[in-house]
Amino acid sequence: MTVRTRKPYIAGNWKMNLDRSRSLDLVKTVKGRIGDGSDREVAFFVPSIYLADVSAVAQGSPLGVGGQNMWYEDDGACTGELAPRMLREVGADRVLIGHSERRHIFREVEEWMPRKLRAALDADLQPIFCIGETLTERNANRTDRVLKKQLESGFDRVKPEDAHHISIAYEPVWAIGTGETATLEQVDHVHAMIRKWLFGKVGGEAETVRILYGGSVKPDNAKALMALDTVDGLLVGGASLQAETFLPIIEYDAN
Ligand code: PGA
Repeated sequence: MTVRTRKPYIAGNWKMNLDRSRSLDLVKTVKGRIGDGSDREVAFFVPSIYLADVSAVAQGSPLGVGGQNMWYEDDGACTGELAPRMLREVGADRVLIGHSERRHIFREVEEWMPRKLRAALDADLQPIFCIGETLTERNANRTDRVLKKQLESGFDRVKPEDAHHISIAYEPVWAIGTGETATLEQVDHVHAMIRKWLFGKVGGEAETVRILYGGSVKPDNAKALMALDTVDGLLVGGASLQAETFLPIIEYDAN
């Protein structure tokens, strides 16, 4: 049996889905099911335009509410962007950094990642730093190298004492929204590699960082993924959009 030293973290990333009323219904339902949040942490990453409303509904509950992206400066001529302080102002307490869709569709560059991670920490927003390899990179046996490079650059401005605020999500690009999940062996290998890398980077503080898996997580694979000692949580896209699929993932150990 797994003896957990880190609180399981189940996060839903809505991406550009749902509308205001369905978002609020979902938050109300999930909020009513997570108890006092002492045994697991649950959060939604919400389109920024709904953050204030979602935060208001989540208030008073342990449900976390986060932004899906942000820029790293506090103000300036950055049309269309959001400053970390703006996310905080509308009730977010966390943020995704470097999600694969930001990196690949919107061409966010590696050099921004350390600045974003630093800015999130400085604004007291708990980051989930997302990394992942493409199928081409995996097929060329470059997975570990690619992920280490993403870790090296993302963590460039992170100090050991910051580590416990950070979570890492391993999301293979080829498994996101495709219905294809990495095998348990692949997940276990990568998560162990990340943990080892973290020890080299932040020493003993590495123990405090939660490492989540993401990529086609569904009610029927959540339990097996969470049974791995190396997996501390799940970042869920499509299956987080409905209570019928998200609740069984949150309650993975009851299934
Ligand atoms: P998915 O998305 O669960 O729909 O594959 C995961 C993610 O991109 O965070």
